[in-house]
Amino acid sequence: MKKLIGLKKTKVAVFISGTGSNLKNLIKFSNKKNSPISINLIISNTKKAKGLKYANQYNIEKKVLNFNNNKINEKKNLDFLIKKEINFICLAGFMKILSKNFIKKFKGKIVNIHPSLLPKYKGLNTHKRALKNKEKFAGCTVHYVTTKLDSGKIILQKKVKIKKKDTVNSLKKKVLKKEHQLYPAAIRKIFS
Ligand code: GRF
Repeated sequence: MKKLIGLKKTKVAVFISGTGSNLKNLIKFSNKKNSPISINLIISNTKKAKGLKYANQYNIEKKVLNFNNNKINEKKNLDFLIKKEINFICLAGFMKILSKNFIKKFKGKIVNIHPSLLPKYKGLNTHKRALKNKEKFAGCTVHYVTTKLDSGKIILQKKVKIKKKDTVNSLKKKVLKKEHQLYPAAIRKIFS
């Protein structure tokens, strides 16, 4: 996408709704000297998101925005991101669907991490469905966000083997570990 000029890092907002382990991992990655991004903003749709604590921990601005999409909220949200000079958005466990117009305004500049080997298991409860279908592999995908849910161009994927004794929880843990490797690798790929 954009080559690094000197040490100038792309200003990124990470959108979360929950625990924020991917957020924490991306912050650590962004703090590396040779990382192409800096995390300048943490956005959540709910003040209950546990991951918001990383804003204080790492001294990053945070903001809870309303994503119940009507034109007024949408404009407010877009204006806020533009004011903060955000050039790229990483969704990390963000549970709201972005409006078409929002996605259009950040075309090609929003990515998401999804806990399945897309195009398989779009949407929720991916691990439960993979186990039920007796899949041999599970995994995770980083992809561009388009107006079609979990369907944008795939940037990178990582597989994990599903073992007989795996449960939703054990699989979730295993996949999350891979997610933490995958997201930084996908960011490097995008900006290389
Ligand atoms: C991850 O499994 C991610 O793939 C999915 O939501 C989960 C978020 O986990 N979209 P965390 O909040 O980053 O710990």
